[in-house]
Amino acid sequence: MPSNPSSLSATQREERMMTKLAKSESIETVDDMSDEYYDHLTNLMVQQADSELAGGFGYVPWIMKAPTTEEMLVVSNIVRDEVRHARAMYRLLEDAKFGVDDWVDKMDFTFRVDDSENLGDKRASSDKRVNIFYYPIESWADFVMFNFLMDRGAGHQLEDVKVSTYGPWRREIDRIFKEELTHVAHGDFWVKKLALNPATKPEIQAALDRWWPRVMAIFGRPGSRKNKRYRELGLKKRDNNDVREFFAKEVREKAETWGLTMPQWIPDWQKVPEDSVIPG
Ligand SMILES: [Fe+2]
Ligand SMILES: [Fe+2]
Repeated sequence: MPSNPSSLSATQREERMMTKLAKSESIETVDDMSDEYYDHLTNLMVQQADSELAGGFGYVPWIMKAPTTEEMLVVSNIVRDEVRHARAMYRLLEDAKFGVDDWVDKMDFTFRVDDSENLGDKRASSDKRVNIFYYPIESWADFVMFNFLMDRGAGHQLEDVKVSTYGPWRREIDRIFKEELTHVAHGDFWVKKLALNPATKPEIQAALDRWWPRVMAIFGRPGSRKNKRYRELGLKKRDNNDVREFFAKEVREKAETWGLTMPQWIPDWQKVPEDSVIPG
């Protein structure tokens, strides 16, 4: 990852940043960013950009495999939205002098792991996509479950960007957020439809069971030191766990209303390591 390209000294930038943050003014250019702020910001923005692009690529086959011509158009529009979101994020990164073309050239955003693999909270290659985007979407039930869960989860995370200290990102997020809500609505419509039909209920329940632990892992660990630092710099607003709980409550209410059973989820950090010996 490149470092802050500003011609100002680290001390000058740190002072400018602290003054702005103290007055609740936006950070607008690389000249306003300490090295640490620049690194955290570009890391978060690359995570979003790479996720948008990898997400869009994963949906492409579903343009052709959608069940109706109307749905072919819906999926095409979703793909277009995701590529636009990726482009909007990469453009912000270009403005922050991040070498976007070199970065994207080196990555394979079509790469997927096998469906049976369990990544936990690890990535599967050197891009920075949120790791749920490494799993393949293998059925229409998967596709709409992804809209229902992941687009919703991303929406909850983007809520924090709406109040970010970085002005250019904050101003970009509203349109992205509104488009994500249309993807979530598409997921809601289809998950409900498949859940209420006894013939299709088992497959949508199976998709929920498969994707639930994957989506719950995207929010990160509770009380993480990195998240705490993001909050101090105004790059995030809430603890990882608060975002996850808010999201999980919303999903649970909908899924249970439609007769689906919420799977149990045990976070990795609460699991007893397999090789540990419990005394007594
Ligand atoms: Fe998106
Ligand atoms: Fe989306």
